Amino acid sequence: MSLTTPSRKIATRVAQLTGEGALAVYSRAKELERAGKSIIHLELGEPDFHPAKPVVEALRTAVSEGRDRYCATRGVPALREAIAEYLKRTRRLDVTSEQVLVAPGCKMALSLAMMALIEPGDDVLYPDPGFPIYPSFTRGLGAKAVPFALREENQFQPDLAEISAKITSKTRMLIFNSPNNPTGTVFDRSVLEKLAALAVRHDLWVLSDEIYARILFGGEYQSIWALPGMAERTVIIDGFSKSFAMTGWRLGYAVAAKPVIDAMDLLVLNTFTCAAEFTQLAAVEALRDATHAVEAMVEEYRQRRDLFVAGLNRIPGFRCQQPDGAFYAWVNVEDTGLPAEEVARLLLEEGGVAGIAGAAFGAEGKNYLRFSLVSAPKLLEEALKRVAAVAASWAAVSK
Ligand SMILES: Cc1ncc(COP(=O)(O)O)c(C=O)c1O
Repeated sequence: MSLTTPSRKIATRVAQLTGEGALAVYSRAKELERAGKSIIHLELGEPDFHPAKPVVEALRTAVSEGRDRYCATRGVPALREAIAEYLKRTRRLDVTSEQVLVAPGCKMALSLAMMALIEPGDDVLYPDPGFPIYPSFTRGLGAKAVPFALREENQFQPDLAEISAKITSKTRMLIFNSPNNPTGTVFDRSVLEKLAALAVRHDLWVLSDEIYARILFGGEYQSIWALPGMAERTVIIDGFSKSFAMTGWRLGYAVAAKPVIDAMDLLVLNTFTCAAEFTQLAAVEALRDATHAVEAMVEEYRQRRDLFVAGLNRIPGFRCQQPDGAFYAWVNVEDTGLPAEEVARLLLEEGGVAGIAGAAFGAEGKNYLRFSLVSAPKLLEEALKRVAAVAASWAAVSK
């Protein structure tokens, strides 16, 4: 699409932005479905669960009680207090409601934090492979996006020497996401400690995207916020889309030092004014989680992960490390002897299995595919059969 009209120009920052690969695959998959082909959708990062009943009830009550007015720009006090309490309970973080700002979606919280803290000309470090919006929005702000690699031979943990070597006097911010989309890597405690030490030494902001913090298959979540010197320089991004299966409700939040929250609040006032009051009130109920819905959902993801990863590893040419969190399988397809884009295309067109070629998550993703574990086990089993059938027609290159 051209970004210029005959006489009036679109602002140049828009040309710096990129989209998300999943949507292009999704629209082709939908086209095939309309033509009568059976498709198993493993391309979008959207849970196939819905919010727990009490959350839906709380929304109904809030709407019927007229809680549909403009409300506090940084979020209703009840939700901000509930978020601070929730982070204490689930992540042992010592934060106050003054340090919380609610936004319509994690992405909005992320972009507000980036707008508040990044200057044109800054360098911003981000994970490759990683969520494509980090480099896109960085460039949109006139800053330079500097990738650091998450490599398979390192179990997709970052290489601290590489990050250290890439820090310059222009480096303003380090962004990371643990568990990481798309690899599912949970950063080791020792890695977090070293990242924190680098951030303190070079006086960096740290943007810790913790949207998958609850979708963890072992251990307790460690946030970099809790490490010495980090509470003053960390912005936590989290929300309701993944942990509470509330993607379309558009509700996320940021946690940061009060001056950062105040700056973000001014951006809210200048843009969307507030998140909807009734979704915020229902979100208080989600955090209470009276039916233990999160636990049940994570257990279901664990079973899907075990089934799908083991099944993929039995198919010649496919190789997948067990993810420790999130709900994605990040699969190396180098040994098929085909480019990942071609593998993705054949799986979709011939097998009816939709996944995303890894380059959508950065240059390091070029030999990989991402599948979301967002379908019931029966469908995942069927997907494995289809992948195996398509793969049978390739001569897998032995290592
Ligand atoms: C790492 C990461 N951050 C943020 C988001 C966006 O979350 P939301 O839907 O709440 O805007 C996603 C969604 O896929 C994600 O994977």
